[in-house]
Parts: sequence; structure tokens; C-alpha cells
Amino acid sequence: VTPERAAQREREREMKAIILVGGFGTRLRPLTLSVPKPLVDFANKPMILHQIEALKRAGVDHVILAIAYQPGVMMSFLKEYEEKLGIKITCSEEKTPMGTAGPLAIARKLLDDGTGEPFFMLNADVICEYPLREALDYHRSHGGEATILVTKVDEPSKYGVVVFDESTGLVDRFVEKPKEFVGNKINAGIYVLSPSVLDKVQLRPTSIEKEVFPLVAQEDKLRAMVLEGYWMDVGQPKDYLQGLDLYLGGL
Ligand code: GDD
Ligand code: MG
Repeated sequence: VTPERAAQREREREMKAIILVGGFGTRLRPLTLSVPKPLVDFANKPMILHQIEALKRAGVDHVILAIAYQPGVMMSFLKEYEEKLGIKITCSEEKTPMGTAGPLAIARKLLDDGTGEPFFMLNADVICEYPLREALDYHRSHGGEATILVTKVDEPSKYGVVVFDESTGLVDRFVEKPKEFVGNKINAGIYVLSPSVLDKVQLRPTSIEKEVFPLVAQEDKLRAMVLEGYWMDVGQPKDYLQGLDLYLGGL
């Protein structure tokens, strides 16, 4: 495919993203007693708006929110932003929490339009500079099924550790919340996925980290891309404060 043809194809199709909005946000109480975690202000703007704006900048036309808790609050808040930002926002609701992969099965028809084009997936509680175009370009260049953005941390046991070949990006192992040290590059909670990965997701509560990525890695179709700049999971008070500091530093 020539670059011109690729660019044309991209203009014609609808680029999609799914954000995992799930959880009760208990670790961020009391901020989450009155609003769902993604609507908690972060630098004068609800967390999720930082992500939706970044997705828009990357060319995304349609954001699907996978919501297991208070969908009404979330959707009525975001309604005005559909128009303001010029982006379609759809709610994909779970009657019971489906974990981090189950929501993909629920939203399958929305995500896979038959073109085979990849889509973004984000945890709602992470902040960074969102180099999403770079991630998409990298994903297209390696031809695998999934790309995980990774970042280096001091305390890897709180996260999903990605063991990969630094020169090729090829992921050897994915270990969620390791008890023993296996590495310090962790899953930043931002992915580019090809629709074929949906064949590996069952319609039940299931974890992308524990049940899907290991399968993709086994087939040598999982790659890691090192995230430049700051990163933080702001789902806990101490990390939220540190995240604010990093964000302001980044500005
Ligand atoms: N829709 C939906 N349904 N979303 C959910 C559910 C669910 O049942 N459970 C969790 N989520 C959402 C959360 O709201 C959050 O946005 C994201 O999935 C990840 O869940 P967390 O509870 O924040 O997980 P974590 O922080 O312990 O670990 C995850 O994030 C780390 C990076 O911050 C994992 O993906 C780790 O591998 C990763 O390193
Ligand atoms: Mg988290």
C-alpha cells in the first residue's frame, strides 16, 4: 500500500477508540463519592477530557466508553463535548463489571467494522503526553495484533510488567502484578489493537492483562513501544498528586 493510498483509506474510515471507564474508583474516595472517577477534575478539567481531546488530535472520530457504573452521569456530562470537540461518543454499558477485556466483547460490533483497521484502547485513569499517532504508526509497521505502550517505574509490583526485546519490541511475557521482580517496564494502560484480537476475547468477565495478552504474546503478535515523557496512574490520592506535578512540569 502506497502512503497516498493509506492516507486516503484513513480519510474514508472512522477511527475508533474504547476507554475503560469501569470501576467504582474506591481508591480515590472521597473524590469519587460524588462523581465517577473519570469525571474527577485533573488540572481544572475532568480526567477523561484530557484523553478524549488527545484521541481527537490523533484523528479518532468515535470514542466508545465501556461503563459499568453510573453511565447516566457520565453520558449527560459528555453530551455537550460531542459537539464542542466534533467527536462521536457512545456508551457501551455492562450490566455487571466485565473486567478489562470483557468490555471488548460487548463492544465488538462497534469496534470491528470489517475494514481490519486498528483501534485505540485506554485505561481511564492514566495521564501522559499521549503520543497516539506514533503508537498507531508503530503498530502498522510491525504488523502484529497488539501494541502496548510501556513506561519505566520504581515499583513494578503495582502494575502489569512487560518483558520484551528492547531492539525489536517483541513481547516475551506479560506478568500482571508480579510478586517477584521480572522487570521494571510496565503496561501504561494504552494500547493499539487490531480487530483480530477480538477473536481471543470471550463474552464473560475477563482480564486483558491475564487472559488475552499472554495468548497474543505466545503467537509473537504482541509488541511494546516505550512511552516518552511522563506517565502516571492517577487512581490513588498520592499518585494523583504526583501526577498533577508531572503534568504541570510537562506543560
Ligand atoms: N468497563 C469496565 N469494566 N472497566 C473496568 C472494569 C470493568 O469491569 N474493571 C476495571 N476497569 C477499568 C478501570 O476503570 C480503569 O480505567 C482500567 O479498567 C484499569 O483498571 P484499574 O483498576 O485501574 O487497574 P490497575 O491500575 O490496577 O492496573 C491496570 O493499569 C495499570 C496501569 O495503570 C493494568 O492494566 C496494569 O497492567 C497496568 O500496568
Ligand atoms: Mg489504575
